[in-house]
Amino acid sequence: MSERHPFPALDPDKNQIIFICGRKGSGKSVNARETFRAWPGVDKLVIDPTGDADSSLPQQVTVHKLPAAMPAPKRRGEPVVLRWVADQASPTYREDLDRALGLALRPKNRRVLVWVDEAEEVFPAGRIGPEGRTLLAQSRHWYVSLIAATPRPMGIDPKLLSQADRVVIYDLPHPRDRERIAASIGIEPKVLARELDATRAMGEHWFMMYDAREHALYRVPPLPMSEGYKHAQQ
Ligand SMILES: Nc1ncnc2c1ncn2[C@@H]1O[C@H](COP(=O)(O)OP(=O)(O)OP(=O)(O)O)[C@@H](O)[C@H]1O
Ligand SMILES: [Mg+2]
Repeated sequence: MSERHPFPALDPDKNQIIFICGRKGSGKSVNARETFRAWPGVDKLVIDPTGDADSSLPQQVTVHKLPAAMPAPKRRGEPVVLRWVADQASPTYREDLDRALGLALRPKNRRVLVWVDEAEEVFPAGRIGPEGRTLLAQSRHWYVSLIAATPRPMGIDPKLLSQADRVVIYDLPHPRDRERIAASIGIEPKVLARELDATRAMGEHWFMMYDAREHALYRVPPLPMSEGYKHAQQ
């Protein structure tokens, strides 16, 4: 079932959903950020509920007020990188997070990659908004790709998990989280638990990567980190 690195390279021309989970400090944000930074040929949107998700890409523009649409490129052909930091005190906080997904959906044929580092805020179980539902049901038709990370898969709407093309699993101690992941990727809970324990034994920041198209699970060493990363001190 589980194979070693190298796993199949990500095809950036394909719109896809990547779900990342693992306990605090395991390496989720590093993985999400590296994947987001390296993805070529798309406009990029960071939906940042806490102000901790910074791509540090040179083109990145950070705003605190949600715009009506993604900005136009400064120069033709140059990718846009927009980071919107949400206001947790706003009475419309939840709606705003959902509306922000609309920036990636419309105009429909614009290719946008979205990074959500607190996926439980944007895709809470049983409470996703209309834009979130559209994105999860039809991401390909809307030319949207999504990188979504969370420490607790149990709090996430199951639709996100069932739509994921790739599931990245860092150290995930809670049995219920493991069971949720096992059910959604169609791997025996005992088998997944054994693989995760073996991955943890390899050392810090190792992870597993499940590829839905291949129905294969890979064990992967820590990713090389680019500069400028700050782990949120909470
Ligand atoms: N691939 C890696 N190589 C080396 N160090 C790493 C790697 N991944 C993570 N780390 C170290 O672990 C720290 C925490 O990583 P990261 O911020 O990605 O965790 P997280 O899972 O997002 O945690 P949280 O749940 O608190 O957001 C990083 O600041 C970095 O020092
Ligand atoms: Mg993080």
